[in-house]
Amino acid sequence: MIPEELEEEMLSHPGLGAVYRKLKEELAGADDTRSLEEIRVAYLGRKGAITSVLQGIKELPPEERRSTGRLANLLKQGLEEELASRLEGIRQRELEESLRRERLDISLPGRRVPYGTRHLLSSIIEEIEDIFIGLGYRVAEGPEVELDYYNFEALNTPDWHPSKSLQDTFYVEIPGSGRRDVLLRTHTSPVQIRVMESTPPPVYIIAPGKAYRHDVPDATHSPMFHQVEGLAVDEGISLGDLKGTLETFAKRMFGEDRKVRFRPHFFPFTEPSAEVDVSCNMCGGAGCRVCKGTGWLEILGAGMVDPNVFAYVGYDPEKWSGFAFGMGVERIALLKYGVPDIRFFFDNDLRLLRQY
Ligand code: DAH
Repeated sequence: MIPEELEEEMLSHPGLGAVYRKLKEELAGADDTRSLEEIRVAYLGRKGAITSVLQGIKELPPEERRSTGRLANLLKQGLEEELASRLEGIRQRELEESLRRERLDISLPGRRVPYGTRHLLSSIIEEIEDIFIGLGYRVAEGPEVELDYYNFEALNTPDWHPSKSLQDTFYVEIPGSGRRDVLLRTHTSPVQIRVMESTPPPVYIIAPGKAYRHDVPDATHSPMFHQVEGLAVDEGISLGDLKGTLETFAKRMFGEDRKVRFRPHFFPFTEPSAEVDVSCNMCGGAGCRVCKGTGWLEILGAGMVDPNVFAYVGYDPEKWSGFAFGMGVERIALLKYGVPDIRFFFDNDLRLLRQY
């Protein structure tokens, strides 16, 4: 704290000797910031011991002033330095301690955050959207909880139609309303009506989404599944446009070498109607287990929009004509990727989903 050669002089000084002795004693026992601060106040504070000696100098006899002032200032400076270096030491010690306490073992491998990917069905829907957007279509959506009017009536589906029965459709009860016309849509076709109701022709839309049917799950059925609806209404649309559009779609989706086949069928909302098959990719059309020996796989229903449907939405059937189609997304996934069972899509088994 003070040069060694001044130690004697300091200890024998009448005013400072006792102060110095006591200070040394107290410093020896101080090892934290609080006791060091107490010492600072007790010796260097406004009423501190060293401060008092310095303030008392002017009252001393002149011959004592010089040596007392010199020693007191020396002690003051020495103590300030001592306190600063002790505090620095403590700070250093505390830092080392906290570094030791908070040490990270960076040799441990980090925990990997698992990140997701698109579900196979979502990527197929996106693929379908891309193809039709490329053909000038826009993507539309409609509610999954639908009204009888949109799901059946405006689609020219008579009340006696079997698809309206309790065995085929999930009806939704709205407590206290007494309504019997709310249901989970059985197909995406109601979106056709909603779009035509709210937009004047021409219309080129596809509508992907979920549909529901009262089916027992098996390899080819699921009570919830996905469809992509399509609708084109314009002046002079013909069956040839429908064929060309679906052929283009099938080739882009399944490959250039695929053929498309139209089989006459019945749907209430199209006239004429067809079921559309694509040549089987498993056997190249020769016939196999997947296509049940026929060489063809059914992927969608389609037809020319029935004029009765136009009447529901207020389109003039003399001026406008159109085609519509509805495809099963799971069906397309089964065919494109050879997935053997529709239930695999919904089991959430990552071992299956990671393969695509
Ligand atoms: N909605 C029909 C179904 O679920 C599929 C369908 C057939 C949609 C013909 C259409 C169509 O738009 O024109 O089985």
